[in-house]
Amino acid sequence: MGNYFDNIIGRKFGNYSVTDILGTGMSSKVFKAYHSSLKYHASIKVFNPQVSSDSEFVKLFQIETKKFAQINHPNIVKIYDAGVQNELVYIITEYISGKSLERLIEEGKNNGEKIQVKQIVNFVKSAGRALSYAHIQNVLHGNVKPSNILVEKTGRVVLTDFGIAKMTMDNKDKITGKLVNTHPYLAPELSARKPESKKADIYSLGVIFHELIVGQVPYSSKKTNESLEKQGEDTKTQSSSMLKNVPERFTTIILKSIDKKPKNRYKNMAAMVADIEKLKEAIPEQLAIATSELVEPPPPEDISPDKSTDLRVILHFLKTGQILELPLGTEFSIGRRNENPPVFPDIDLSPYKGYVWGISRMHAKLIVGEGSVRIVDLNSTNGTWIYGKQLEPNVPFRLRHGAIVSLGDLHTQVLIYKERNIQ
Ligand SMILES: Nc1ncnc2c1ncn2[C@@H]1O[C@H](COP(=O)(O)OP(=O)(O)OP(=O)(O)O)[C@@H](O)[C@H]1O
Ligand SMILES: [Mg+2]
Repeated sequence: MGNYFDNIIGRKFGNYSVTDILGTGMSSKVFKAYHSSLKYHASIKVFNPQVSSDSEFVKLFQIETKKFAQINHPNIVKIYDAGVQNELVYIITEYISGKSLERLIEEGKNNGEKIQVKQIVNFVKSAGRALSYAHIQNVLHGNVKPSNILVEKTGRVVLTDFGIAKMTMDNKDKITGKLVNTHPYLAPELSARKPESKKADIYSLGVIFHELIVGQVPYSSKKTNESLEKQGEDTKTQSSSMLKNVPERFTTIILKSIDKKPKNRYKNMAAMVADIEKLKEAIPEQLAIATSELVEPPPPEDISPDKSTDLRVILHFLKTGQILELPLGTEFSIGRRNENPPVFPDIDLSPYKGYVWGISRMHAKLIVGEGSVRIVDLNSTNGTWIYGKQLEPNVPFRLRHGAIVSLGDLHTQVLIYKERNIQ
C-alpha cells in the first residue's frame, strides 16, 4: 500500500497529465495536472486505497460528487470530473494558484506578521457566502477548515472539498459512528453521532474566524471524542477570555457561531454573513463577492471613493457558471453581434446565448474608470436590471463589486478586483 501513490506523477487521467504533488491529506493526496489539448491546469485528488476499496465510500462518492457538480459559485472550486481508473478513485477540480488559509496562518505565525483584519473579514465573508449558497441548495460541506479554504493570488477565496468528509467518513468510526479524527474546527455535536448539518458548518467557520482574529482556536482539542465534547463545554469560557481585547462587534459574531448548542448559533449561514457584512469599515471593497440570494441591494451612494483605475472586471454568468474576464480598458459596449446591418459590440454575448436571453444588439455599456465601474442601458428592448429594478436608459449606474446585473434574462454578477497580489 505504501507505494500506492507511486507512479502517479506522469500518469494520465483522461486528457489530464499529472505533473506535481500539491499536498497530502487524511484520506487523499492532491496533485497538479495539465490538460494537454486545452492547455490549462487542474487539481486531482486521489483517495487512499483504504477509502477507495470501500463500497460504501464509492456509493457516497457518486452521490456527493453529483451534488457538488450542481453548485456554481465564484467562491467554490469548480469540479471538472470524477471517477475511478485502475482502482484509483479521483476527483478533478479547478486548480487554485495560491495558498491555503492553513498555510497563510502558519506563515503569519512564523514571520510574526498578522493577517490584516480587512483580509480576515474578507476570508470569512467569502467562505460564508460560498457556504450559504451551497446550503440554500442543501449541499453541506461538513469539513470546513483552513486547509480547505484556498486563497488565490488574485485574492479570490475558494472553498474546496465539499462533502468529502461525508464520503470518506474519515471522521467517524464505521461501527460506532463516533469521531475518530477530530480537529478543532469540527462542531462538538458531531461526536454524538449527529449527522453533519448546516449548523456544524457555521460552527467551523466561527472557529476559523476566532483563530484568525486572536491567533488561536477557541479550544485546541486533539484526536479524541472526549476532548471534542470538552471543546464544546470549554469553548465559551476559554474564548471569552481570549477575546477580551477584541471589539464587541467581532466577538458577538464569533461567540454566536461557536456556541456549543446548535440552536443558539445563527439560524443560517446567510444570517452570519449578514452580520459579518455589517463590520463595514473592516470590509475591503475590492475583494468582497456577493450573491443575489444573500445580499440586500446596497444604495448606489454607499461606495467609498477609490481613485485607482487598475480595475479588473469579470462577468460571472449565474445560470451557467461561466466566467468572462474583460480585458483592461475603459469602455465596453455589450450586446449581440450582427452582420447586416453591422453591429459589433465590444462584449459579444452571442456565444453566451445572448439571443435566448433577450439581449439587444447594443444593450448596455460598461464604463470603467476613476476607481469605479458604471453601467448604462442603451435603450435596450428588454432592459437592464439591478436587483430587480430597471435602469433608466442612458443614465449611468455605479456598480458595486458583486452586484447582480440582469441584461434581459441574462443574470450576471459583476466582480470587480483591483490588481493585487496577496503574497
Ligand atoms: N484545487 C486545488 N488547487 C490547488 N491546491 C489544492 C487544491 N486542492 C487542494 N490543494 C492543496 O492540497 C493540499 C492537500 O489537500 P487535501 O484536501 O488532500 O488535504 P487537507 O485539506 O489538508 O486535509 P483533509 O484530507 O483532512 O481534508 C491542501 O492543503 C492544498 O494546499
Ligand atoms: Mg482538503
